[in-house]
Amino acid sequence: MTTGKYVDSLQNKRVVITGGASGIGLATALRFAAEGSIVTILDFNQDRLVGVLEEHPEITYGLKVDVSNPEEVNDVFAAIDNKMGGVDVLIANAGISVRANFVDITPEQWRKVIGTNLDGIFYTAQAAAKRMLAQGKGVILMTASTNGVVGHPYYADYNASKAGVNLLARTMALELAPTIRVNTICPGYVLTPMQLAEYTPEMLDKVNQNIPLKRHAMPEEVAGLFAFLASDEAQYITGQQIPIDGGELA
Ligand code: NAI
Repeated sequence: MTTGKYVDSLQNKRVVITGGASGIGLATALRFAAEGSIVTILDFNQDRLVGVLEEHPEITYGLKVDVSNPEEVNDVFAAIDNKMGGVDVLIANAGISVRANFVDITPEQWRKVIGTNLDGIFYTAQAAAKRMLAQGKGVILMTASTNGVVGHPYYADYNASKAGVNLLARTMALELAPTIRVNTICPGYVLTPMQLAEYTPEMLDKVNQNIPLKRHAMPEEVAGLFAFLASDEAQYITGQQIPIDGGELA
């Protein structure tokens, strides 16, 4: 899978990635590091953070934060100011999903999923946007999902959170232009600890057969889309929700 450098405009950019200790976030952190960016990963899993920083010294900083907690988010952005002196690119990516029948979703589960996937993106995006407005430039990218465009069953809370992310981003793009570009990406099936990793080969095969390109994505492919959207190659793209789904939404 490609992790090489293809755009010079990410060199020395200060990049913050939430959910950066696993899956799509980790692949994205490694891609930006390969592009020469200064990368801070944020995650609430301390053990994973420590392991990732040990294994990948090219990731400059790793800080623990629960993105669903606004005070913790404020504190961690103050720490980022001290360490990096600002943020050029935010990848708001941390998310969770829980499979459940709509009628069985408890208020606690609803709050947890919306609190992480939607509130968490709001808190981090607002903290980053204030800094980017002050410095006169920035890019905010968010991980939504094909589930935020069409509703797949058994994920009502998740789907609602991701649809919210898509419209939050469009609104932000309009308000924050021309200083900050804001886009979401909408992955389909990506092989990560959250999704597909536990599937048997037979289950994976069934998923893949229903995708027009006949395979799921690898996290590095999603990382490549983030790198492109953050780069100057995408300087005329804002307010968009961009599927990376093998044709699932086609
Ligand atoms: P993952 O489970 O491998 O990674 C998610 C990371 O976010 C973990 O390291 C976790 O500790 C962290 N995290 C979760 N809640 C947090 C919180 N409250 N505060 C800070 N960190 C927190 O999952 P994956 O697959 O890499 O997912 C990343 C994003 O991509 C999520 O937003 C997910 O909804 C989205 N997505 C994933 C798809 C897939 O097929 N894997 C498809 C579409 C969207």
